[in-house]
Amino acid sequence: MIFDTHAHYDDEAFDEDRDSLLQSLTENGILRTVNVSSSVSSNETTLQIAEQWPFVYAAFGVHPSNTAELTEENFGRIEELVDHPKCVAVGEIGLDYHYDEPSRDLQKKWFAAQIQLAKEKGKPVIIHSRDAAQDTCDLMKAEQAKDCGGVVHCFSYSKEMARLFVRMGFYIGVGGVVTFKNARVLKEVVEDIPLEYIVLETDCPYLAPVPFRGKRNSSLHLPLVVEKIAQIKGITTQEVEEITWQNALRLYRMKE
Ligand code: NI
Repeated sequence: MIFDTHAHYDDEAFDEDRDSLLQSLTENGILRTVNVSSSVSSNETTLQIAEQWPFVYAAFGVHPSNTAELTEENFGRIEELVDHPKCVAVGEIGLDYHYDEPSRDLQKKWFAAQIQLAKEKGKPVIIHSRDAAQDTCDLMKAEQAKDCGGVVHCFSYSKEMARLFVRMGFYIGVGGVVTFKNARVLKEVVEDIPLEYIVLETDCPYLAPVPFRGKRNSSLHLPLVVEKIAQIKGITTQEVEEITWQNALRLYRMKE
């Protein structure tokens, strides 16, 4: 019983076999997933997928690298979408200084606005943060993001940072990267943080686990991530599946 807390099935990488792939997930134990929006247009494609598939839920929001697309008008549409019955979070939102575009000020403005939206609507946030640990933390504190909670997805920082996010009431999203040879820091995080704060994610079509690294990812590869976490924690794969399933339900405030 696996919950993929972060997927992008509206991505064009799935155009050729989206329906048959989604159909196969539940047959393979992937019983729930959240399709996460990242741009103004993907809010609409995410809505379509969530309306078509009962086990697919939605997160609406705009990724930091795409915040130049945002206007007061299309932000109004996101506010509307967040009230949709299949919407379980605002995301993905945050700061990305890896490409450093658009400007840091613009990224911060929309990160703050989307945290406030989540707080108003009583939904958690899905945070994307890359090469921006300190600013992400500072802004979350300033905006009191602990009031909405959420997940720091595709976690790429130290265990000290992970502890800090957990103390703010956030979950740590772990995916295919944990199987990479050079993922020493993430393995330390998984070892250090109680399993009760870890959720499984793919970020598919990106970040396929070894031995599929570099290929198209999908939720079908999550058992490889489960195995790696079980190995690091010294527990069974069944325990990892059960506990991360419960964690995901708590994160997204969903019933069984
Ligand atoms: Ni993503």
